Parts: sequence; structure tokens; C-alpha cells
Amino acid sequence: MNDADFDFVTSELKRRSGIVIGKDKMYLLESRLSPIARKEGLESIGELVSLVRRNRDERLMKVIVDAMTTNETFFFRDKTPFDHLEKAVLPALREKRPGQRIRILCAACSTGQEPYSIAMMLDQNPALTGGAPVEITAVDISDRVLDKARAGLYSQFEVQRGLPIRTLMTYFTQQGDVWKLSDNIRSKVQFKNVNLLDPMTTLGKFDVVFCRNVLIYFDLQTKRDILQRLSAQMNDPSFLLLGAAETVVGVVDSFAPNKEFRGLYEKSGTAGRAGIRAA
Ligand SMILES: C[S@@+](CC[C@H](N)C(=O)[O-])C[C@H]1O[C@@H](n2cnc3c(N)ncnc32)[C@H](O)[C@@H]1O
Repeated sequence: MNDADFDFVTSELKRRSGIVIGKDKMYLLESRLSPIARKEGLESIGELVSLVRRNRDERLMKVIVDAMTTNETFFFRDKTPFDHLEKAVLPALREKRPGQRIRILCAACSTGQEPYSIAMMLDQNPALTGGAPVEITAVDISDRVLDKARAGLYSQFEVQRGLPIRTLMTYFTQQGDVWKLSDNIRSKVQFKNVNLLDPMTTLGKFDVVFCRNVLIYFDLQTKRDILQRLSAQMNDPSFLLLGAAETVVGVVDSFAPNKEFRGLYEKSGTAGRAGIRAA
């Protein structure tokens, strides 16, 4: 791939999704674009990029952006955020806003394992919400992963990653090679195609936001912009959970890191007042 093609694809990718690909990741671009070129019956990535540039081919550009998203995820990934939800966030919400509807957002939900983990956890232990109704909204930029999430069909490999056997047996049925998640759990999550670069005001306000393992793909300004707009969509009090390699520190001051629960952030103004303590 020549420099001009690389620059074209990476700048379009950043403009459309926020994802930044440095020159050191040329191999990544090539390995993700080669199958597209082949599928389109083209000889090379060069031909693919020329076609997109020449024809301003929106369909192909969208296919390229989709291919450049990294969709790695699994059930109860990292475990800690789910523990924080159980031991810190829900008790604080139960205490401060008893009985009130709890709205949870999974920003960049990929194939659904994260929101479904939350839905299964709450279904297993209804006392966690103190009887309050819960709404889980899960968004991603990729229709491909959202379609898979909505279908709730997972391979043997996918259900073996992170899902306790009892949870698997309770909520899934085996259908040939795949495992199907129960309609009950599927109905608890609403999936939407939302680009985190776009306004999020129509989503309404949330009490808990999981935004995990997506900010790592963005530059500082994009992280800042997304976190600020997420904070505007959050109630008082409300809580943000980031991925293990992500932080708000040095990025925005609209969230304060919780001192006792690593990776948990409280919307500023609510920090200290939510009164979260180690259980
Ligand atoms: C690595 S997955 C994270 C999945 C899940 N949150 C987890 O931690 O397991 C990152 C997801 O971010 C999505 N993504 C990337 N850029 C996005 C954007 N601008 N808006 C919404 N989603 C985006 C990708 O499509 C991908 O599914």
C-alpha cells in the first residue's frame, strides 16, 4: 500500500469513526483490507482505494470503516467492572434514588456480550436493583456487530470465554453448533447504531455508562469530546466504567476517579456525594 492510499484511508477512517491508525499499523490496514479487495473482485488494495476515491463510493467506504473496527469482546470481560456495578454502583443508586428506573448505556457494545452480561447478572439477582426497573441501551457504529448482538447467537468458543457454566445453562440453549441466548434476556437490551462522534442527546439520560475498550482507539481530543458529551447524558448521581487501559485522568474533569474502586468514575458534582464505600 502506498503512502497516498494509506493517508486517504486513515484520514477518512478518523473523520468517520474517530479511529486513529498510525503508520506502524500499516500491516493492520493491509490485513483487514485485503479480504475486501478480493471479495470485490479487485487485484489489490491499491485498486480498492482508487475505486473508492474515483467513484466516491460510499458503500465501499463504509465497508472499509467497518472492517477497521476491532470488535474483541467476551462475557463478563475483566470481571472487575461487573463487581463494581454490583458492589458500589447499584448500592449507591438504591440508596440515593430508591425505586427509580435505572438506565444503563453500553457505549461501543460490539457483539453484545457486555450488555447481556449485565442483563444476566441483574436477572440472577433482582435484589441488586431493589426492585427498580432497569433499561439497558447498547450502541455501536457497526451494523455487522449489532446484527449479531440482536440475534443472540454465540459459538462454543464465545460462550466458553467468561461465562460461568451455570449461567450458560440457565440462559442459553444449544442449537447445533451455536448457543442461543434466551428471548427474555435478549428483550432486556435495546441495540442501536450510534456513532460516538455524533450527538447523543436523543438517547436520553443514563445512571450508568459502560464505555470500555473503545477510547483506546481515539486521539486525546476525540476522547475528550466523547467523554464530555457522555457526561452531558448522565444523571446526578451517575457512574462511568472504563476499560482497564483507559482513564479520564488528564482528559476531562467532568468525572472523578473513585478512590476505592479502580476503573470506576463518578460524574463530577456527584463525587463524594454518592458516598460509595468498599462493601
Ligand atoms: C473492542 S470493542 C469493545 C466491546 C466492549 N465494550 C468490551 O469492552 O468488551 C470496540 C467497539 O467499538 C466500536 N466503535 C469504534 N468506533 C466507534 C464509534 N465512533 N462509535 C461507536 N462505536 C465505535 C467498534 O465497532 C467495536 O465494536
